[in-house]
Amino acid sequence: MRTDYCGELRADDAGREVAVCGWVATRREHGEHLAFVDLRDRSGVVQCVVDGAHDLRSEYVVRVRGTVRIRPEGTTNPALPTGDVEIGDATVEVLSEAEPPPFPLTDRVETDETVRLRHRYVDLRRDRLQRNLEVRATVNAALRTAMARQGFTEVETPMLIASTPEGARDFVVPSRLSPGSFYALPQSPQLFKQLCMVGGLDRYYQIARCLRDEDLRADRQFEFMQLDLEASFVGQAEVLDFTAEAVLDAVEAVTGERPGAVPTMTWHDAMERFGSDKPDVRFGLELVELTELFSATGFNAFKAPCVKGIRVPGGADRTRNQLDALTDDAKRYGAKGLVWMKVEADRTLTSPVAKFLSDVELAGLVDALEAAPGDLLLLVADERPTVRHVLGLLRLSLGRPPVTEGGLNLLWVVDFPLFESLDDQGRPVSAHHPFTMPNAQDMHLLDEGGEALLDIRSQAYDLVLNGWELGSGSVRIHRPDIQSKVFALLGIGDEEARTKFGFLLEAFRYGAPPHAGFAFGIDRLVALLAGEENIREVIAFPKTQSGTDPLTSAPTPIDADALTELGLRLLPPTT
Ligand code: AMO
Ligand code: AMP
Repeated sequence: MRTDYCGELRADDAGREVAVCGWVATRREHGEHLAFVDLRDRSGVVQCVVDGAHDLRSEYVVRVRGTVRIRPEGTTNPALPTGDVEIGDATVEVLSEAEPPPFPLTDRVETDETVRLRHRYVDLRRDRLQRNLEVRATVNAALRTAMARQGFTEVETPMLIASTPEGARDFVVPSRLSPGSFYALPQSPQLFKQLCMVGGLDRYYQIARCLRDEDLRADRQFEFMQLDLEASFVGQAEVLDFTAEAVLDAVEAVTGERPGAVPTMTWHDAMERFGSDKPDVRFGLELVELTELFSATGFNAFKAPCVKGIRVPGGADRTRNQLDALTDDAKRYGAKGLVWMKVEADRTLTSPVAKFLSDVELAGLVDALEAAPGDLLLLVADERPTVRHVLGLLRLSLGRPPVTEGGLNLLWVVDFPLFESLDDQGRPVSAHHPFTMPNAQDMHLLDEGGEALLDIRSQAYDLVLNGWELGSGSVRIHRPDIQSKVFALLGIGDEEARTKFGFLLEAFRYGAPPHAGFAFGIDRLVALLAGEENIREVIAFPKTQSGTDPLTSAPTPIDADALTELGLRLLPPTT
């Protein structure tokens, strides 16, 4: 049907007879017998000059035949790659008529997302989505090549499974053959990839679809894709190398440039300096330690286990109302209050609480925060985790650039704690998942219990990109004795462990190699490579924020017979 793609014609092609196919993007009539038609296909747009009258409308699907010629002087369009040429003496064959599109197909017009998703097949014709899906395909291809080159075998794991302990809610599928029983859709291939290691596969990877029933956000969908990997007889260092190789290859495949080696930061440093385990290191406003400075303070609010501050360069011009709003934010994030100070021209500090602080404390503050005239200082005192959390969020709200700006800033965060907190009953809560190996040097603390548990580092690591968590992984526990100890601490009894993970624990009894792995979100990587803030823009058929698909109307009710066959009966709606 065609000899060329529209967007690929150039001055070199002048004189060639061509046939192109596509959608009518725009059409301008010149009198009765001449029309200029911009024809669009996936490669771009070319101008066709059509003789004779035609009843062409926007988005008609047509085949155009004609001769490529250089455009007359003064009519070239430097904004278009094909802007030097046009297809002249064109004859048009209509292949499909089209109703007027439900929204304009240019990137210049913002259309309501529900409308876009309702007619996603039209939306997909736009440049932006064509480009984004191209980026996605390039990333997938680069990841596959990188993993194969590193000796990994692609293995598909099942979608109808029991349950995976990733901490989100499962999507479940009722079983017709076992009424009253349900499959869970995988939150990740975690357990199966570990079974692959017991099975001697040595190096496994998969571009895996994962499903989690959680609240949707810009960087979260119900369904998403991971590059998931696991390897035997390796530790953390090798896994970081395997993963970085794949990520850097993907970035290079899209941008043409290979970023340098990915730097590493400990979880402890990330929390102390940025107040976050996924620090956005593209900007400053770091948290500064002030506990020591106020260790003997007379100011009640600062008599706390931890005091930290941040310096907002040039922030002193904020009004009283703006400062009150910041204080409200801090309280919303969990602080008891917020102290602000303005740095005057002579580097003295103005603040409602300055009178409660000693000269040594005030001078020490200026030094510690490297305060300059015109700066604003913000201080919080509380338990250490609260201080880090509150200032971490204030830092983001005051300084964070859009996630797509300033290039791609990759960072490893290592040495995560094994447990993130103790619950009401003093029981530890897993920071990653219960199969994560404690750091060998901290293993003895497992027997101590209590607060000491929170000091146990684990062999878990995250990859962070511009303040987004791109991926997580860990060295796994392959020894039953350590696994039992961790389960016991988490309050997972023998019975529960057997029911939930019995098959994995049993597998481990038949010869488990030491193994470790990682998984990162492909949607998130592609979004940032495509310059998009929302992963919906890099997914062909995403769900809306409320988890629906306006195109197919999913989720939909099913009829009574189907329910009966599944052994289900519906309760009346609760709302
Ligand atoms: P984790 O749960 O951290 O680890 O998931 C890994 C990465 O998957 C991406 N991701 C998501 N992307 C879009 N929408 C979501 N709802 C969503 N949830 C997660 C993130 C995240 O960093 N089995 C472990 C990995 C391992 O230990 O090997 C796991 O799944 O980018
Ligand atoms: P108060 O003594 O509660 O009246 O607070 C005096 C000032 O200190 C107010 O500006 C409070 O916002 C601030 N403040 C109170 N508690 C804290 C805290 N834990 N950390 C930082 N600032 C605080």
